[in-house]
Amino acid sequence: MKKLFIKTYGCQMNVYDSERMYELMAPHGYKQSNDYSEADVIILNTCHIREKAAEKIYSELGRIAPIKKKLAKKGINTNIVVAGCVAQAEGSEIINRQPIVDIVVGPQTYHKLPEFLSRIQKKSSRIVDTNFPIENKFDSLHHNREVANVTSFLSIQEGCDKFCSFCVVPYTRGLEYSRPASDIINEAKILLKKGAKEICLLGQNVNAYSSVKNNKSWNLARLIREIANLEGVKRLRYMTSHPIDMSDDLIRAHGEVSFLMPYLHLPIQSGDDDILKKMNRGYNVKLYLDIINKLRIVRDDIAFSSDFIIGFPGETDKAFNNTLKLIKEVNYAQAYSFKYSRRPGTPGSIMKQQISEEIKDERLSILQQLLNKQQIDFNSSFKGKELEVLLEKPGKKDGQLVGKSPYLQSIYVNSKMNKIGDLLKLKIISTTKNSLEGKLIKKSFEESNRNNES
Ligand code: SAH
Ligand code: SF4
Ligand code: F3S
Repeated sequence: MKKLFIKTYGCQMNVYDSERMYELMAPHGYKQSNDYSEADVIILNTCHIREKAAEKIYSELGRIAPIKKKLAKKGINTNIVVAGCVAQAEGSEIINRQPIVDIVVGPQTYHKLPEFLSRIQKKSSRIVDTNFPIENKFDSLHHNREVANVTSFLSIQEGCDKFCSFCVVPYTRGLEYSRPASDIINEAKILLKKGAKEICLLGQNVNAYSSVKNNKSWNLARLIREIANLEGVKRLRYMTSHPIDMSDDLIRAHGEVSFLMPYLHLPIQSGDDDILKKMNRGYNVKLYLDIINKLRIVRDDIAFSSDFIIGFPGETDKAFNNTLKLIKEVNYAQAYSFKYSRRPGTPGSIMKQQISEEIKDERLSILQQLLNKQQIDFNSSFKGKELEVLLEKPGKKDGQLVGKSPYLQSIYVNSKMNKIGDLLKLKIISTTKNSLEGKLIKKSFEESNRNNES
Protein backbone atom coordinates (compact mmCIF):
# COMPACT_ATOMS: atom_id res chain seq x y z
CA MET A 1 0.00 0.00 0.00
CA LYS A 2 1.18 3.52 -0.79
CA LYS A 3 0.62 6.33 1.67
CA LEU A 4 -1.57 9.36 0.97
CA PHE A 5 -1.55 12.49 3.12
CA ILE A 6 -4.16 15.21 2.59
CA LYS A 7 -4.09 18.54 4.39
CA THR A 8 -7.40 20.37 4.20
CA TYR A 9 -7.87 24.14 4.40
CA GLY A 10 -10.98 26.31 4.16
CA CYS A 11 -14.62 25.40 4.33
CA GLN A 12 -16.63 22.21 4.86
CA MET A 13 -16.89 21.73 1.09
CA ASN A 14 -13.16 21.10 1.10
CA VAL A 15 -13.52 18.68 4.02
CA TYR A 16 -16.09 16.78 1.96
CA ASP A 17 -13.83 16.84 -1.13
CA SER A 18 -10.83 15.53 0.84
CA GLU A 19 -12.89 12.57 2.08
CA ARG A 20 -13.91 11.84 -1.52
CA MET A 21 -10.23 12.01 -2.58
CA TYR A 22 -9.26 9.35 -0.02
CA GLU A 23 -12.07 7.14 -1.33
CA LEU A 24 -11.10 7.77 -4.92
CA MET A 25 -7.49 6.77 -4.31
CA ALA A 26 -8.14 3.69 -2.13
CA PRO A 27 -8.83 1.30 -5.07
CA HIS A 28 -5.52 2.45 -6.58
CA GLY A 29 -3.58 1.16 -3.58
CA TYR A 30 -3.39 4.30 -1.41
CA LYS A 31 -4.15 4.35 2.29
CA GLN A 32 -4.59 7.38 4.52
CA SER A 33 -1.48 8.58 6.33
CA ASN A 34 -1.33 11.20 9.04
CA ASP A 35 2.32 12.06 8.56
CA TYR A 36 3.57 13.79 5.45
CA SER A 37 7.22 13.02 6.11
CA GLU A 38 6.62 9.47 4.88
CA ALA A 39 3.86 9.94 2.30
CA ASP A 40 4.04 8.83 -1.34
CA VAL A 41 1.49 11.46 -2.32
CA ILE A 42 0.83 14.73 -0.51
CA ILE A 43 -2.28 16.70 -1.41
CA LEU A 44 -2.87 20.23 -0.14
CA ASN A 45 -6.59 20.89 -0.56
CA THR A 46 -6.53 24.65 -0.47
CA CYS A 47 -8.68 27.72 0.20
CA HIS A 48 -8.41 31.08 -1.55
CA ILE A 49 -10.97 33.09 0.38
CA ARG A 50 -8.52 35.51 2.01
CA GLU A 51 -5.02 36.60 1.07
CA LYS A 52 -3.40 34.91 4.06
CA ALA A 53 -5.04 31.60 3.11
CA ALA A 54 -3.13 31.47 -0.20
CA GLU A 55 0.17 32.55 1.40
CA LYS A 56 -0.18 29.70 3.90
CA ILE A 57 -0.01 27.24 1.00
CA TYR A 58 3.28 28.62 -0.28
CA SER A 59 4.80 28.42 3.22
CA GLU A 60 3.57 24.85 3.58
CA LEU A 61 5.12 23.94 0.20
CA GLY A 62 8.33 25.54 1.42
CA ARG A 63 8.29 23.17 4.41
CA ILE A 64 7.54 20.15 2.22
CA ALA A 65 10.38 20.86 -0.29
CA PRO A 66 13.29 19.62 1.90
CA ILE A 67 11.28 16.53 2.93
CA LYS A 68 10.72 15.65 -0.72
CA LYS A 69 14.46 16.06 -1.38
CA LYS A 70 15.35 13.89 1.60
CA LEU A 71 12.98 11.14 0.48
CA ALA A 72 14.30 11.38 -3.10
CA LYS A 73 17.79 10.59 -1.76
CA LYS A 74 16.32 7.39 -0.29
CA GLY A 75 14.84 6.58 -3.70
CA ILE A 76 11.26 7.55 -2.75
CA ASN A 77 9.51 9.84 -5.21
CA THR A 78 6.86 11.83 -3.37
CA ASN A 79 4.25 13.42 -5.63
CA ILE A 80 2.94 16.79 -4.55
CA VAL A 81 -0.57 17.88 -5.54
CA VAL A 82 -2.17 21.27 -4.99
CA ALA A 83 -5.96 20.94 -5.17
CA GLY A 84 -8.88 23.18 -4.21
CA CYS A 85 -9.51 26.88 -4.66
CA VAL A 86 -5.91 28.21 -4.73
CA ALA A 87 -5.23 25.64 -7.46
CA GLN A 88 -8.21 26.92 -9.42
CA ALA A 89 -7.27 30.57 -9.00
CA GLU A 90 -3.53 30.39 -9.55
CA GLY A 91 -3.17 27.40 -11.94
CA SER A 92 0.31 27.03 -13.42
CA GLU A 93 1.56 30.03 -11.41
CA ILE A 94 1.86 27.58 -8.50
CA ILE A 95 4.33 25.41 -10.40
CA ASN A 96 6.30 28.50 -11.46
CA ARG A 97 6.57 29.63 -7.85
CA GLN A 98 7.18 26.20 -6.39
CA PRO A 99 8.65 23.62 -8.81
CA ILE A 100 8.21 20.72 -6.37
CA VAL A 101 4.51 20.64 -7.29
CA ASP A 102 3.59 17.88 -9.77
CA ILE A 103 -0.15 18.36 -10.20
CA VAL A 104 -2.47 21.36 -9.88
CA VAL A 105 -6.10 20.34 -9.91
CA GLY A 106 -9.21 22.46 -9.34
CA PRO A 107 -12.29 21.58 -7.26
CA GLN A 108 -14.20 20.44 -10.36
CA THR A 109 -11.58 18.03 -11.73
CA TYR A 110 -10.15 16.20 -8.73
CA HIS A 111 -12.00 13.02 -9.72
CA LYS A 112 -9.27 12.61 -12.38
CA LEU A 113 -6.49 12.42 -9.75
CA PRO A 114 -5.80 8.65 -10.06
CA GLU A 115 -5.39 9.07 -13.83
CA PHE A 116 -3.15 12.14 -13.42
CA LEU A 117 -0.96 10.41 -10.84
CA SER A 118 -0.42 7.36 -12.96
CA ARG A 119 0.42 9.63 -15.95
CA ILE A 120 3.06 11.63 -14.10
CA GLN A 121 4.49 8.54 -12.43
CA LYS A 122 5.10 7.00 -15.88
CA LYS A 123 6.39 10.19 -17.47
CA SER A 124 7.85 12.79 -15.20
CA SER A 125 5.90 15.76 -16.54
CA ARG A 126 3.56 18.14 -14.74
CA ILE A 127 -0.21 18.51 -15.03
CA VAL A 128 -2.41 21.53 -14.48
CA ASP A 129 -6.16 20.99 -14.86
CA THR A 130 -8.42 23.78 -13.74
CA ASN A 131 -11.20 23.34 -16.28
CA PHE A 132 -14.83 23.34 -15.41
CA PRO A 133 -15.60 20.16 -17.34
CA ILE A 134 -18.91 19.42 -18.96
CA GLU A 135 -18.98 16.01 -17.32
CA ASN A 136 -20.24 16.00 -13.79
CA LYS A 137 -17.65 15.39 -11.09
CA PHE A 138 -20.25 13.82 -8.81
CA ASP A 139 -21.06 11.14 -11.41
CA SER A 140 -17.42 10.11 -11.49
CA LEU A 141 -17.08 9.85 -7.73
CA HIS A 142 -17.83 6.62 -5.95
CA HIS A 143 -21.45 6.26 -5.03
CA ASN A 144 -20.58 3.77 -2.36
CA ARG A 145 -19.17 6.07 0.27
CA GLU A 146 -16.53 4.53 2.47
CA VAL A 147 -16.34 7.25 5.09
CA ALA A 148 -19.35 7.72 7.34
CA ASN A 149 -18.68 9.62 10.52
CA VAL A 150 -21.28 9.90 13.26
CA THR A 151 -21.71 13.39 11.83
CA SER A 152 -21.37 13.14 8.08
CA PHE A 153 -21.19 15.87 5.47
CA LEU A 154 -23.11 15.53 2.24
CA SER A 155 -22.55 18.03 -0.60
CA ILE A 156 -25.82 18.79 -2.36
CA GLN A 157 -24.96 22.01 -4.17
CA GLU A 158 -21.80 23.65 -5.34
CA GLY A 159 -20.68 26.94 -6.76
CA CYS A 160 -22.27 30.35 -6.62
CA ASP A 161 -23.84 32.88 -9.00
CA LYS A 162 -24.21 35.67 -6.48
CA PHE A 163 -20.95 37.50 -7.08
CA CYS A 164 -20.70 39.37 -3.80
CA SER A 165 -18.17 42.08 -4.53
CA PHE A 166 -15.61 40.78 -1.98
CA CYS A 167 -15.70 37.09 -2.82
CA VAL A 168 -13.66 34.71 -4.99
CA VAL A 169 -15.96 31.68 -4.73
CA PRO A 170 -17.86 32.14 -8.05
CA TYR A 171 -14.47 32.21 -9.79
CA THR A 172 -12.92 29.26 -7.95
CA ARG A 173 -15.90 26.93 -7.65
CA GLY A 174 -17.83 27.96 -10.74
CA LEU A 175 -21.50 28.73 -11.10
CA GLU A 176 -24.25 27.19 -9.03
CA TYR A 177 -24.90 23.49 -9.57
CA SER A 178 -27.43 21.34 -7.67
CA ARG A 179 -27.07 17.56 -7.59
CA PRO A 180 -30.13 15.44 -8.49
CA ALA A 181 -32.29 14.76 -5.41
CA SER A 182 -32.25 10.99 -6.00
CA ASP A 183 -28.42 10.87 -5.86
CA ILE A 184 -28.44 12.85 -2.62
CA ILE A 185 -31.05 10.63 -0.99
CA ASN A 186 -29.11 7.51 -2.03
CA GLU A 187 -25.93 8.92 -0.55
CA ALA A 188 -27.79 9.78 2.67
CA LYS A 189 -29.11 6.20 2.90
CA ILE A 190 -25.58 4.80 2.53
CA LEU A 191 -24.26 7.15 5.21
CA LEU A 192 -27.01 6.17 7.63
CA LYS A 193 -26.46 2.47 6.96
CA LYS A 194 -22.80 2.93 7.74
CA GLY A 195 -23.53 4.50 11.10
CA ALA A 196 -24.07 8.21 10.51
CA LYS A 197 -26.51 9.71 13.01
CA GLU A 198 -26.32 13.31 11.91
CA ILE A 199 -26.21 14.53 8.33
CA CYS A 200 -25.11 18.02 7.42
CA LEU A 201 -26.17 19.06 3.93
CA LEU A 202 -23.50 21.24 2.37
CA GLY A 203 -23.32 23.89 -0.30
CA GLN A 204 -21.75 27.29 -0.90
CA ASN A 205 -25.36 28.46 -1.03
CA VAL A 206 -27.07 25.40 0.26
CA ASN A 207 -30.53 26.95 0.43
CA ALA A 208 -30.35 27.94 -3.25
CA TYR A 209 -30.65 24.19 -3.90
CA SER A 210 -33.04 23.56 -6.75
CA SER A 211 -33.50 20.57 -8.99
CA VAL A 212 -36.25 19.10 -11.15
CA LYS A 213 -36.90 15.39 -11.58
CA ASN A 214 -39.87 13.73 -13.33
CA ASN A 215 -41.60 17.10 -13.46
CA LYS A 216 -41.29 17.42 -9.67
CA SER A 217 -39.27 20.29 -8.40
CA TRP A 218 -37.05 19.91 -5.38
CA ASN A 219 -35.89 22.58 -2.99
CA LEU A 220 -33.93 22.33 0.24
CA ALA A 221 -37.07 22.16 2.42
CA ARG A 222 -38.36 19.14 0.47
CA LEU A 223 -34.98 17.45 0.64
CA ILE A 224 -34.85 17.97 4.42
CA ARG A 225 -38.34 16.51 4.88
CA GLU A 226 -37.42 13.50 2.74
CA ILE A 227 -34.13 12.80 4.52
CA ALA A 228 -35.76 13.27 7.95
CA ASN A 229 -37.92 10.23 7.11
CA LEU A 230 -34.99 7.93 6.38
CA GLU A 231 -34.23 5.17 8.84
CA GLY A 232 -31.52 5.95 11.37
CA VAL A 233 -31.40 9.73 11.04
CA LYS A 234 -31.26 11.54 14.39
CA ARG A 235 -30.12 15.00 13.45
CA LEU A 236 -30.07 17.21 10.36
CA ARG A 237 -28.28 20.45 9.61
CA TYR A 238 -27.46 22.48 6.52
CA MET A 239 -24.90 25.14 5.68
CA THR A 240 -24.06 27.71 4.42
CA SER A 241 -27.28 29.50 3.72
CA HIS A 242 -27.77 32.90 2.17
CA PRO A 243 -30.46 35.20 3.64
CA ILE A 244 -31.93 35.85 0.18
CA ASP A 245 -32.73 32.14 -0.27
CA MET A 246 -34.43 31.63 3.13
CA SER A 247 -37.84 30.79 1.64
CA ASP A 248 -41.01 30.61 3.74
CA ASP A 249 -41.13 26.88 2.97
CA LEU A 250 -37.66 26.40 4.46
CA ILE A 251 -38.57 28.50 7.49
CA ARG A 252 -41.69 26.32 7.97
CA ALA A 253 -39.51 23.19 7.85
CA HIS A 254 -37.72 24.47 10.98
CA GLY A 255 -41.03 24.35 12.83
CA GLU A 256 -42.09 20.97 11.44
CA VAL A 257 -39.01 18.75 11.26
CA SER A 258 -37.94 17.88 14.79
CA PHE A 259 -34.64 16.36 13.57
CA LEU A 260 -33.63 19.70 12.08
CA MET A 261 -31.36 21.24 14.73
CA PRO A 262 -32.40 24.59 16.24
CA TYR A 263 -29.24 26.31 15.10
CA LEU A 264 -28.63 28.22 11.90
CA HIS A 265 -25.52 29.75 10.39
CA LEU A 266 -26.92 32.72 8.50
CA PRO A 267 -24.13 35.12 7.47
CA ILE A 268 -25.10 38.79 7.23
CA GLN A 269 -21.54 40.19 6.70
CA SER A 270 -22.46 43.75 7.73
CA GLY A 271 -25.23 45.45 9.69
CA ASP A 272 -25.24 48.53 7.46
CA ASP A 273 -27.53 48.85 4.42
CA ASP A 274 -25.10 50.97 2.35
CA ILE A 275 -22.28 48.48 2.88
CA LEU A 276 -24.58 45.53 2.11
CA LYS A 277 -25.46 47.25 -1.16
CA LYS A 278 -21.80 47.78 -2.05
CA MET A 279 -21.16 44.14 -1.16
CA ASN A 280 -23.91 43.16 -3.63
CA ARG A 281 -25.59 40.99 -1.02
CA GLY A 282 -29.14 41.54 -2.33
CA TYR A 283 -30.81 42.12 1.07
CA ASN A 284 -30.97 44.80 3.73
CA VAL A 285 -30.87 44.64 7.51
CA LYS A 286 -34.66 44.68 7.80
CA LEU A 287 -35.08 41.64 5.57
CA TYR A 288 -32.44 39.76 7.58
CA LEU A 289 -34.10 40.61 10.89
CA ASP A 290 -37.51 39.62 9.49
CA ILE A 291 -36.10 36.16 8.66
CA ILE A 292 -34.63 35.81 12.16
CA ASN A 293 -37.97 36.74 13.69
CA LYS A 294 -39.94 34.35 11.49
CA LEU A 295 -37.58 31.53 12.46
CA ARG A 296 -37.95 32.39 16.15
CA ILE A 297 -41.72 32.21 15.80
CA VAL A 298 -41.70 28.67 14.33
CA ARG A 299 -38.87 27.43 16.61
CA ASP A 300 -38.52 29.42 19.80
CA ASP A 301 -35.31 27.65 20.91
CA ILE A 302 -33.42 28.46 17.70
CA ALA A 303 -30.00 30.14 17.96
CA PHE A 304 -27.95 31.86 15.29
CA SER A 305 -24.44 32.25 14.06
CA SER A 306 -23.06 34.52 11.33
CA ASP A 307 -20.02 35.74 9.41
CA PHE A 308 -18.90 39.37 9.52
CA ILE A 309 -16.48 41.25 7.29
CA ILE A 310 -14.88 44.25 8.95
CA GLY A 311 -13.41 47.17 7.02
CA PHE A 312 -15.07 46.68 3.65
CA PRO A 313 -14.33 49.74 1.42
CA GLY A 314 -16.37 52.74 2.54
CA GLU A 315 -17.15 51.36 6.03
CA THR A 316 -17.56 54.49 8.15
CA ASP A 317 -17.66 54.60 11.96
CA LYS A 318 -21.42 54.89 11.62
CA ALA A 319 -21.62 51.82 9.35
CA PHE A 320 -19.45 49.86 11.79
CA ASN A 321 -21.67 50.93 14.69
CA ASN A 322 -24.69 49.69 12.75
CA THR A 323 -23.02 46.26 12.64
CA LEU A 324 -22.54 46.35 16.42
CA LYS A 325 -26.18 47.37 16.81
CA LEU A 326 -27.33 44.44 14.65
CA ILE A 327 -25.21 42.02 16.70
CA LYS A 328 -26.81 43.28 19.91
CA GLU A 329 -30.25 42.94 18.38
CA VAL A 330 -29.80 39.33 17.17
CA ASN A 331 -27.67 38.12 20.11
CA TYR A 332 -25.61 35.40 18.43
CA ALA A 333 -24.65 32.05 19.93
CA GLN A 334 -21.40 32.21 18.03
CA ALA A 335 -19.97 34.00 14.97
CA TYR A 336 -16.95 34.29 12.70
CA SER A 337 -15.42 37.65 11.86
CA PHE A 338 -12.74 38.57 9.34
CA LYS A 339 -10.88 41.66 8.25
CA TYR A 340 -11.75 42.51 4.67
CA SER A 341 -9.11 41.05 2.36
CA ARG A 342 -8.67 42.53 -1.13
CA ARG A 343 -8.98 39.69 -3.60
CA PRO A 344 -7.60 40.40 -7.08
CA GLY A 345 -10.27 40.24 -9.77
CA THR A 346 -13.17 41.03 -7.43
CA PRO A 347 -15.01 44.39 -7.70
CA GLY A 348 -14.28 45.22 -4.03
CA SER A 349 -10.54 45.16 -4.61
CA ILE A 350 -10.68 48.23 -6.87
CA MET A 351 -13.26 50.20 -4.90
CA LYS A 352 -12.26 53.58 -3.54
CA GLN A 353 -12.19 54.27 0.21
CA GLN A 354 -10.23 51.16 1.18
CA ILE A 355 -9.88 51.00 4.97
CA SER A 356 -6.47 51.00 6.66
CA GLU A 357 -5.26 47.86 8.45
CA GLU A 358 -5.03 49.86 11.65
CA ILE A 359 -8.72 50.75 11.61
CA LYS A 360 -9.66 47.22 10.59
CA ASP A 361 -7.68 45.82 13.55
CA GLU A 362 -9.30 48.25 15.95
CA ARG A 363 -12.84 47.52 14.73
CA LEU A 364 -12.29 43.78 14.60
CA SER A 365 -11.16 43.76 18.20
CA ILE A 366 -14.24 45.72 19.36
CA LEU A 367 -16.56 43.47 17.37
CA GLN A 368 -14.93 40.26 18.60
CA GLN A 369 -15.18 41.40 22.21
CA LEU A 370 -18.92 41.76 21.76
CA LEU A 371 -19.28 38.41 19.97
CA ASN A 372 -17.12 36.65 22.57
CA LYS A 373 -19.30 38.00 25.35
CA GLN A 374 -22.44 36.80 23.58
CA GLN A 375 -20.90 33.35 23.11
CA ILE A 376 -19.83 33.11 26.77
CA ASP A 377 -23.30 34.21 27.90
CA PHE A 378 -25.01 31.81 25.51
CA ASN A 379 -22.96 28.88 26.80
CA SER A 380 -23.37 29.78 30.45
CA SER A 381 -27.16 30.03 30.02
CA PHE A 382 -27.12 26.21 29.91
CA LYS A 383 -25.44 25.77 33.29
CA GLY A 384 -27.55 23.51 35.49
CA LYS A 385 -29.82 22.64 32.57
CA GLU A 386 -30.18 19.50 30.48
CA LEU A 387 -28.79 19.40 26.98
CA GLU A 388 -28.71 16.66 24.38
CA VAL A 389 -25.32 15.49 23.11
CA LEU A 390 -24.34 13.32 20.15
CA LEU A 391 -21.06 11.65 21.09
CA GLU A 392 -18.49 11.94 18.28
CA LYS A 393 -15.05 10.99 19.56
CA PRO A 394 -12.94 10.15 22.60
CA GLY A 395 -11.82 13.12 24.69
CA LYS A 396 -8.21 13.86 25.62
CA LYS A 397 -8.57 12.44 29.12
CA ASP A 398 -9.07 8.79 29.96
CA GLY A 399 -12.76 7.78 30.06
CA GLN A 400 -13.83 11.05 28.48
CA LEU A 401 -16.08 11.37 25.43
CA VAL A 402 -16.80 14.50 23.38
CA GLY A 403 -19.82 15.35 21.31
CA LYS A 404 -21.91 18.21 20.02
CA SER A 405 -25.01 19.85 21.40
CA PRO A 406 -27.86 20.86 19.06
CA TYR A 407 -26.12 24.28 18.98
CA LEU A 408 -22.77 22.83 17.84
CA GLN A 409 -21.19 23.43 21.25
CA SER A 410 -18.55 20.84 22.19
CA ILE A 411 -19.64 18.93 25.29
CA TYR A 412 -17.33 16.74 27.37
CA VAL A 413 -18.54 13.92 29.57
CA ASN A 414 -16.93 11.18 31.63
CA SER A 415 -18.72 7.96 30.91
CA LYS A 416 -17.73 4.34 30.75
CA MET A 417 -21.18 3.14 29.75
CA ASN A 418 -21.62 5.21 26.62
CA LYS A 419 -20.00 5.04 23.21
CA ILE A 420 -19.44 7.14 20.12
CA GLY A 421 -22.70 7.57 18.24
CA ASP A 422 -24.85 7.64 21.39
CA LEU A 423 -27.36 10.42 21.70
CA LEU A 424 -28.10 11.30 25.31
CA LYS A 425 -29.13 14.04 27.67
CA LEU A 426 -26.57 15.49 30.04
CA LYS A 427 -26.74 17.92 32.89
CA ILE A 428 -24.39 20.81 32.17
CA ILE A 429 -22.10 21.39 35.14
CA SER A 430 -19.66 23.96 33.79
CA THR A 431 -19.20 26.14 30.72
CA THR A 432 -16.46 28.16 29.03
CA LYS A 433 -16.42 30.15 25.79
CA ASN A 434 -15.50 27.10 23.72
CA SER A 435 -16.97 24.10 25.47
CA LEU A 436 -19.36 22.71 28.03
CA GLU A 437 -18.95 19.93 30.56
CA GLY A 438 -21.86 17.61 31.23
CA LYS A 439 -22.58 14.80 33.62
CA LEU A 440 -24.79 11.79 33.15
CA ILE A 441 -28.23 12.00 34.59
CA LYS A 442 -29.81 8.83 35.90
CA LYS A 443 -32.12 8.25 32.97
CA SER A 444 -29.36 8.92 30.43
CA PHE A 445 -28.30 5.38 29.91
CA GLU A 446 -31.78 3.96 29.30
CA GLU A 447 -32.64 6.95 27.19
CA SER A 448 -29.57 6.63 25.03
CA ASN A 449 -30.33 2.94 24.53
CA ARG A 450 -33.87 3.74 23.55
CA ASN A 451 -32.76 6.50 21.16
CA ASN A 452 -30.14 4.34 19.58
CA GLU A 453 -32.51 1.44 19.05
CA SER A 454 -35.39 3.43 17.61
N1 SAH B 1 -21.67 31.63 0.77
C1 SAH B 1 -21.47 32.12 2.06
C2 SAH B 1 -20.03 32.46 2.40
C3 SAH B 1 -18.89 31.68 1.86
S1 SAH B 1 -17.30 32.37 2.12
C4 SAH B 1 -22.28 33.40 2.23
O1 SAH B 1 -22.64 34.02 1.26
O2 SAH B 1 -22.52 33.78 3.33
C5 SAH B 1 -17.14 32.29 3.89
C6 SAH B 1 -16.93 33.62 4.55
O3 SAH B 1 -15.67 34.16 4.26
C7 SAH B 1 -17.90 34.70 4.13
O4 SAH B 1 -19.12 34.59 4.78
C8 SAH B 1 -17.18 35.97 4.47
O5 SAH B 1 -17.49 36.41 5.76
C9 SAH B 1 -15.70 35.56 4.40
N2 SAH B 1 -15.05 36.19 3.25
C10 SAH B 1 -15.28 35.94 1.94
N3 SAH B 1 -14.50 36.75 1.17
C11 SAH B 1 -13.80 37.53 2.01
C12 SAH B 1 -12.84 38.57 1.83
N4 SAH B 1 -12.48 38.98 0.63
N5 SAH B 1 -12.30 39.15 2.93
C13 SAH B 1 -12.67 38.75 4.17
N6 SAH B 1 -13.57 37.78 4.40
C14 SAH B 1 -14.13 37.17 3.34
FE1 SF4 C 1 -19.22 34.29 -2.01
FE2 SF4 C 1 -21.39 35.76 -1.94
FE3 SF4 C 1 -21.41 33.44 -3.20
FE4 SF4 C 1 -21.29 33.52 -0.54
S1 SF4 C 1 -22.99 34.24 -1.81
S2 SF4 C 1 -20.07 32.24 -1.90
S3 SF4 C 1 -20.05 35.31 -0.18
S4 SF4 C 1 -20.24 35.23 -3.80
FE1 F3S D 1 -12.15 28.53 0.65
FE2 F3S D 1 -12.89 27.54 -1.64
FE3 F3S D 1 -14.28 27.03 0.54
S1 F3S D 1 -12.10 29.55 -1.32
S2 F3S D 1 -13.98 28.85 1.74
S3 F3S D 1 -12.24 26.38 0.15
S4 F3S D 1 -15.07 27.35 -1.50
